[in-house]
Parts: sequence; C-alpha cells; structure tokens
Amino acid sequence: MNDTVLSARNLKRDYHLGGGLFAKGRTIHAVKGVSFDVARGKTLAVVGESGCGKSTLARMITMIEAPTAGELAIDGEEIDIVRKGMTPELRRKVQIVFQNPYGSLNPRQKIGDVLGEPLLINSKTPKSERDDRAMEMLKKVGLQPEHFNRYPHMFSGGQRQRIAIARALMLRPKLLVLDEPVSALDLSVQAQVLNLLADLQDEFNLTYVFISHDLSVVRYIADEVMVMYFGEAVEYGSRDAVFSNPQHEYTRTLFAATPRADVASIKARLARRAA
Ligand SMILES: Nc1ncnc2c1ncn2[C@@H]1O[C@H](COP(=O)(O)OP(=O)(O)O)[C@@H](O)[C@H]1O
Ligand SMILES: [Mg+2]
Repeated sequence: MNDTVLSARNLKRDYHLGGGLFAKGRTIHAVKGVSFDVARGKTLAVVGESGCGKSTLARMITMIEAPTAGELAIDGEEIDIVRKGMTPELRRKVQIVFQNPYGSLNPRQKIGDVLGEPLLINSKTPKSERDDRAMEMLKKVGLQPEHFNRYPHMFSGGQRQRIAIARALMLRPKLLVLDEPVSALDLSVQAQVLNLLADLQDEFNLTYVFISHDLSVVRYIADEVMVMYFGEAVEYGSRDAVFSNPQHEYTRTLFAATPRADVASIKARLARRAA
C-alpha cells in the first residue's frame, strides 16, 4: 500500500511580467524547484515570509495553476501537469481553504446551500440528501442546526472559516491545502479552529498541507516542516528536528525572533553569498 498522499518533485513556477510583443519582460521565479512527500493522515507545514512562494505552491498542488515544470502525484496518481491537469475524480480528492473565506462565500446563499453545492457535481443527488449531508457537516465543524438557513454576513470570522472547512470536506477529500487558514483570526479563535482541524484530521484521516508565516502555529500543528525562502525549500524535516536543530542560517534567524534589522542584515549576507 502506498501511503504517500502527495508527492512533489522539483516543482517550479515562473511568472513572466511586462514586456509587450517586442519588449523583453521580466521573469519571476516564484517557486524554484521544490520536492516533498506527505504521508496519509499527516500535516506538512510550509512556513516562510510573505512573498517566498507559499501561495504559489498551494495553487500548484491544487492545480488551480499548472506548474511550469516538475512532477506531482496525488494518492498514487501521477498528474499530467502540462496537458491534462487533474481528472475530475482526482480533483475531488484535493480541496483548498484560503485565509479569507468571506471572499469565496456567496452573500446571497444560505449556509445550507453553500455546503450542499459541491454535491451538485453528481446531478443525481436529491436536494433532501444534499441538505442532510450539509446539516451533518455543519455539526461536525461545531456549528448549530439553526445556522443552516443563515447568510454568510451573519457569522463571525471564525465561524466563516468553519463554513469554508465544512464546504471543503463535503466531497470527502483526501488532501486539504490550507493557505494561512487562521492568520486573519484572533488568537483565541485561532486555537479553536486549529483544534477543529486536528479533530477533523483524526476523524477523516485527512492529509494537510498547512501554510503559515506563524511559527507558533506551525509548531502546534506540524508533523513535518518545510521552510521556504525566495522560492526555495531551505529546510525540510520532522517538526522536532527542524525546531530543535535547524540546519539553514535563514531558519535559525526566523526562529530566533531577532529584531527586523538583524533579519535584514542576514538576508543581505545570504543574498551576497548567493550572487
Ligand atoms: N500571478 C502572479 N503574477 C506575477 N507574480 C506573481 C503572481 N503570483 C505570485 N507572484 C509573485 O511570486 C512570488 C511568490 O508569491 P506568493 O506565492 O504569493 O508568496 P507567499 O504566499 O509566500 O506570500 C512573489 O514575488 C509574488 O509577487
Ligand atoms: Mg500567500
């Protein structure tokens, strides 16, 4: 039995900026060749500062955006990243939750319908069954039956994130990519949502790629940690190994919570060395 749910090899993503028909544009190497495996039921945390390529990686794993190069296999199935993309069956196995769920919730749609909507993928599922399954999932994420007929604006930030998580789980995915899922929430609410995610992971044997810039969150939820820096994975290992014995100078700086000025000077030194 292959127990690797997500396998990425040398994933790259370039963006070409500017330049018209005749002008030469600039290329941004947002992700520069990143490789990792995530085992079933485990959490890989991807950590790094703003702009290091985390969201780009999330969009590639979920095939919202095709990688420029590299290999990607999900649940043992190799994806033809250039030509075919994901099959519909594979697409159901991978879901994403964003930092701000409000943007993706239709303000005119009741929560029961928000949760039932993914089930429309199978036109034979009757409305009564969609409603039953939506109600069941509502309870699993800690919301109440009376929330079923309410609209998104009637919920707090933490509740909206619960709704986004519930919607992501409606098709029983294997892999959840969470891009800064608690970064917009108050600290106490963050803890509640993280606990919910841990419970759901156990219940559904879910595999997580959890993206965060917050080391305290990462330490709490990760089995393995990958530290990204300017599009590269500069550190990758078990949580305990990475936190107790970071190998890369950038990771040590990140962990030391040193003043900004120090981070800047070390970055400058690393950049000079790389040049
Ligand atoms: N659609 C895009 N077009 C051009 N550049 C992009 C695009 N998306 C991301 N980038 C660039 O790629 C780099 C990585 O961005 P991103 O993946 O959003 O980082 P993070 O999520 O870690 O903050 C940044 O330099 C960003 O400006
Ligand atoms: Mg991002």
